[in-house]
Amino acid sequence: MIRLHVCEESKLSEAGDFFTSLLHGVPVLVVKDWSGRIRAFVNECQHQKVQLEWDESGKCGGVFTCPFHGWTYDLEGRNLSPGFGPDSHLEPLPVEVTDGRVFVSLTQP
Ligand code: FES
Repeated sequence: MIRLHVCEESKLSEAGDFFTSLLHGVPVLVVKDWSGRIRAFVNECQHQKVQLEWDESGKCGGVFTCPFHGWTYDLEGRNLSPGFGPDSHLEPLPVEVTDGRVFVSLTQP
């Protein structure tokens, strides 16, 4: 595992605040959920593995919507599109906050 810095915790002050980054070729999406927990996912829609969020940072309105066919995901990474199960949720990544800095861990190739 490698642990990489993504952003400062202070930039994720409210639910829906997010950052994206490309870490060792892996597109990463970091977001604060409604409970205040910071989560990280592979920034890929589970439909066709295309990039989900394209902005480097911002605040989403509670869901991420794929620009291609409209699948939507909540702040916990669940696919909200009807008829889809857990295997269609965003792929979670280990995330931790140390001294106000947000780190994501990736499995080394
Ligand atoms: S590629 Fe995302 S909904 Fe089709």
